[in-house]
This record gives sequence, C-alpha cells and structure tokens, in this order.
Amino acid sequence: VERVFSGVQPTGNLHLGNYLGAIVNFVKMQETHNCIYCVVDMHAITQGVDVWGGPAELARNTREVTAAFIASGIDPKKHIVFNQSQVSGHAELAWIFNCVARMGWLGRMTQFKEKAGKDRENASVGLFDYPVLMAADILLYRATHVPVGEDQKQHLELSRDIAQKFNNDFGDSIRSHGANDGLFFPLPEPLIQGPATRVMSLRDGTKKMSKSDASDNSRINLTDDADTIAQKVRKAKTDPEPLPTDEKGLEARPEADNLVGIFAALSGRSKAEVLRDYGGGQFSSFKNALVELCVTKLSPIAGEMKRLVADPGHIDTILNDGADRARAIADETMKQSKDIVGFIRRR
Ligand code: AMP
Ligand code: TRP
Repeated sequence: VERVFSGVQPTGNLHLGNYLGAIVNFVKMQETHNCIYCVVDMHAITQGVDVWGGPAELARNTREVTAAFIASGIDPKKHIVFNQSQVSGHAELAWIFNCVARMGWLGRMTQFKEKAGKDRENASVGLFDYPVLMAADILLYRATHVPVGEDQKQHLELSRDIAQKFNNDFGDSIRSHGANDGLFFPLPEPLIQGPATRVMSLRDGTKKMSKSDASDNSRINLTDDADTIAQKVRKAKTDPEPLPTDEKGLEARPEADNLVGIFAALSGRSKAEVLRDYGGGQFSSFKNALVELCVTKLSPIAGEMKRLVADPGHIDTILNDGADRARAIADETMKQSKDIVGFIRRR
C-alpha cells in the first residue's frame, strides 16, 4: 500500500481553506492508503514570535490542530497522527537535504518571497529553509502521495528536485547499499483535489483565505459558531449580478467563483451542479443556503474539537503514540540515509 504524508502548521485560526483544501482529502485518503498526518510545529516557528504566539500558544495550537484532524474523521489508531518535533529524524534529514538543495532553488519560492516581504535581510534562516524541512518531512517516510492545497504545489516540486538530486549525487552509494535501481527516495506527488483547492478570502476574491489575514471576517474558522458563520457569509463580498447559469460565467467573477466553489466542496458536488440549482438567482438566497450548509457541515466538527481540547492529556497521549509509530519508520530511513552519506553510526 502506498504511503501518504501531509502536514498542517499549528499557527492558529484553522479555516475553511485548510479544511476543504487539505483536511477533507486527508480523511478520504484513509480508505486507500497508509496515512501519516503531522502537526508541523517546527515549521510554525519560522516566522517571528509575534506570528506564532509564543510557547503556550504553540502548544495550544498543536493540540487544536490535532483535535481538528480527529474531529474531521481522521482515525489515529489506524493511521499516524503526531507532532513533528517529537521525531528527530525530521531535523536530521533536513540537514542532509540542506547540503543537496541549492540556494537558487529556494530563492525562487514564492511563499518565501511573500512571507519575507520587503525586509528579506531580516527573515529567519528557517523561513528560507522551510521547503527543505518540508521535503524531509515527506521523504523521511518515503511517502509517495501528498494531499495539499494549491499553494503548496511549488514546494512539492522542490521536494521532487531534492529527492532526485539526492538519488543522483549518491547513486553509487545507494546501489552499493542494495537499492537495486538507485532510487532511494521516491519522487512524491502532490494530490490537489476537489473544487476548492484554493479557497479565497471572503472580503477579497483575489486573495487567499489565510490564517494570518488581519480581518477575521475574511475567513470562516473551524471553531466559529453558527451565528458567526452566518454573519461572515452574509457580509461576504459579491458583485451585483445574479449568479451565472454555467461554470463559464464564473470567469472574471472571483467572489462568485469562490462562494460557488465552497458550496460545491461542502456538498460534494461540482460547481456546474450547484449552478444548475442556483444559477440565475440572487446572491441573498444562495447565501442563505450556503450558511445552512456551512453550519450543518462545520458545527459537529467544532463541537467535537471543543470536547477534545478540553482533555489535553488525551490529545498528548494520541500524539505520543503517533510519534512512537512514526519514529519506527523514520529511524529506518535515517539509518540507511546515514550509511548512504557515509556517516558512521552506532551499531
Ligand atoms: P497551513 O495552514 O499553511 O499549514 O496549510 C495547511 C494546508 O491547508 C495545506 O495543504 C495548504 O495548502 C492548505 N490551505 C491553506 N490555505 C488554503 C486555502 N485558502 N485554500 C485551500 N487550501 C489551503
Ligand atoms: N508547508 C505546508 C503548509 O504550510 C505544511 C507542511 C509542512 C507540509 N510539511 C509538509 C505539507 C509536508 C505536506 C507535506 O501548508
């Protein structure tokens, strides 16, 4: 069975974009794959402490993301759920990959450019190195499939480049250590699926829905209650035209496209099917239906998350157990990687 790996940063405000772009697909993959879902706390600290909120907030958010996974239907007994910093192989493999990846590759990452902003000299080295740690996350488990939102596509391409260059650079050593085809690391594939792989801000259809947007009205948080969801959807920006009758009519109408995409993803239908029901109508009645759909789908998750985070000890037990099982796989990859590179290790 092929292995799936994906991660979510514990930086607060898990939102509908995280849910539809990533978590819903995590849940689905459980039926067909062995899955490892990781709360990437080491990635979370790559920006200033004002962004990740400090030690208490980091721990709280790590448990909250874990709760969201479980409340959404991820089974931590059948699959693996853990936090990244508990398995030292992530940092160790990232170091080896640091010496494989090239500065030029990382300099082209659009997410780094966005997050670093104008003051690049002042960005942390970790923020620059972020995609290398991400490659290590995936390849430590030799995962082949990686469900993510659209924004992670470039990072996945970099992971493939790193895997390929490692396999090339160490080709002879890999073969002498028994990997017949010289392919020690597989080239991981992104799985970018569903009608909402890039959920946009409710205030601006050209901006991605994001944890860090200053306006809370720009996103629907997984922990929002029914009244808050209703308010945010009713306030969501739209244009003055009625809804189009087919998908083509959504072009150049980013806000309409976004709301129809959300509706489609939440109801498990295509955008075309949603427009068959609501095309030609006004936004006000469509929004009423969207509120109802959001509340129906998200309220049970919010309720279950609340119940789970009330017992942090239970969540920590899940994370510890997941980390133990992840470590067993990771240690094997690290042993072989060290032998391939020529590091002497304890026997
Ligand atoms: P992050 O919050 O950056 O750790 O993202 C966790 C997952 O959610 C990744 O797979 C992202 O690609 C996905 N994601 C984040 N924001 C969005 C969005 N606005 N639309 C769709 N997917 C998203
Ligand atoms: N960079 C991803 C994000 O921000 C999170 C992440 C870290 C990840 N490591 C990963 C996703 C490995 C997939 C696989 O969304």
